[in-house]
Amino acid sequence: MLTSAFYKHAQALVPVFQEFARTVQYEKKGILFSEMLFFVALVRSKPTKPLRIIESGRARAQSTLTLARLFPELPVVSIEYDPNSPDTVIAAERLKDCANVELRFGDSSQILPKIVRAGDVVLIDGPKHFRALRLAMRLLNHNHTHLVFVHDVHRGIPERAFLEKYAPTSTYSDQADFVATYRHLDEICWQVLGNPSGEKEAQSFVEACGDSYGPTFAALEPPVTGTTFPLLAHLALERRALLGRWEASRAKRIK
Ligand SMILES: C[S@@+](CC[C@H](N)C(=O)[O-])C[C@H]1O[C@@H](n2cnc3c(N)ncnc32)[C@H](O)[C@@H]1O
Repeated sequence: MLTSAFYKHAQALVPVFQEFARTVQYEKKGILFSEMLFFVALVRSKPTKPLRIIESGRARAQSTLTLARLFPELPVVSIEYDPNSPDTVIAAERLKDCANVELRFGDSSQILPKIVRAGDVVLIDGPKHFRALRLAMRLLNHNHTHLVFVHDVHRGIPERAFLEKYAPTSTYSDQADFVATYRHLDEICWQVLGNPSGEKEAQSFVEACGDSYGPTFAALEPPVTGTTFPLLAHLALERRALLGRWEASRAKRIK
């Protein structure tokens, strides 16, 4: 549940994000401003200050730049899988003045379990879906991370159903009152991603968010039910069934 402390921080962040949206170009693939506000407000509302912010999936560094600016006192470690993408140069250029950011390349599924420590906050925006959940649960249970954010966990996908069942303390950025209050920050994002009522690409992007407003962050905190091993076994077993149900309901909607 989102607390009053969370909303107090969220409200105080509005002018900061408005200024950010006005002065920093929003880049394709980027996490929405309202979703990043959710991230920052939730981290700030916790009694323990993080040691570091670790990000997986940088692309053109929309989220990385936000983290660097909003947490100037913290080290931000950003890991990207693909060093050959044209996004790499764009990200490096955008982050060149951010002294608190360390840029790394590699597969986070391998790297994060080796480097994450108990006080770190982790943002996973690649890998996606079940691979992201598996990584998040590993970090929560083995590395004792107190907060892991996974992006692209909107309603209607099997990963969301899994989390609602096995990680009931998770909170989501598509909560109706949160969306109603903060979606205005995303106007510029939708202009870049495309207007929902406009071009085809944008329409399919919006449809891809199911019943949620946007791609959606899930914030995972301990305790997730059970220990990692049985949870991962559940994940493996249920993945197929959940995917099957999802495909069936999708097919019905398309008909
Ligand atoms: C949606 S983009 C990230 C956008 C970025 N967070 C932002 O807000 O601008 C996803 C990125 O995750 C990267 N990625 C996918 N799997 C990964 C992995 N296993 N480890 C690290 N990065 C990964 C992809 O190469 C891609 O650049």
